[in-house]
Amino acid sequence: MNFYAMIADKILWCKLRWYEHQNNGMQYLNMRYQNHPRYTIGEYTYGYPKIYDFTKTAKLTIGKFCSISDNVTIFLDGNRNTGNIALYPLDHVFQHKETHSEKTGMVIGNDVWIGHGAILLPGIKIGNSVVIGAGAVVTHDVLDYEVVGGVPARHIKFRIPEHMREPWWNKYD
Ligand SMILES: CC(C)(COP(=O)(O)OP(=O)(O)OC[C@H]1O[C@@H](n2cnc3c(N)ncnc32)[C@H](O)[C@@H]1OP(=O)(O)O)[C@@H](O)C(=O)NCCC(=O)NCCS
Repeated sequence: MNFYAMIADKILWCKLRWYEHQNNGMQYLNMRYQNHPRYTIGEYTYGYPKIYDFTKTAKLTIGKFCSISDNVTIFLDGNRNTGNIALYPLDHVFQHKETHSEKTGMVIGNDVWIGHGAILLPGIKIGNSVVIGAGAVVTHDVLDYEVVGGVPARHIKFRIPEHMREPWWNKYD
């Protein structure tokens, strides 16, 4: 990291701590990525996920009011084509280009609670008001109001019955 990048990083760090102080200790993610060209993060979503974004082309959308616990990892791309002869990234090393699996990007709905240490793999869509259990490895789409857990993440239950479901997050702007 060069000198100017280090200073910019320190300024961002101070800004985020200040926002956090202003917001009852919550680290709102949209503040961290407010000018990002490919990430859209809804208001009040908090947490500090580790986001892997190898090709710098994939899109990430996270809705409003999501709670992201510690040690959550989001992979936006980077899956290698497991059917290729070579697994090693030959294209990257010898041709300076990236070839990854077609599964890229991620869409996460509103009011999603992502448990501690969960790993979300590229190309998935997570619905609204979902619970991702602690330690889950999510490889497939998750339906609205579903609770999933385990490795790979499987359906545990639906959180609340249909008559209780309403998009309450749209009431707050
Ligand atoms: C997923 C979770 C919300 C389920 O809680 P719950 O609704 O109270 O459900 P229960 O504890 O009754 O568990 C229901 C079933 O799911 C299983 N289960 C619970 N959590 C699981 C997890 N993380 N991974 C896999 N299976 C899980 C239980 O063993 C149980 O299985 P069984 O019916 O075969 O016995 C909770 O266990 C969890 O993982 N919470 C995240 C905690 C966290 O990360 N906190 C960070 C600070 S906010």
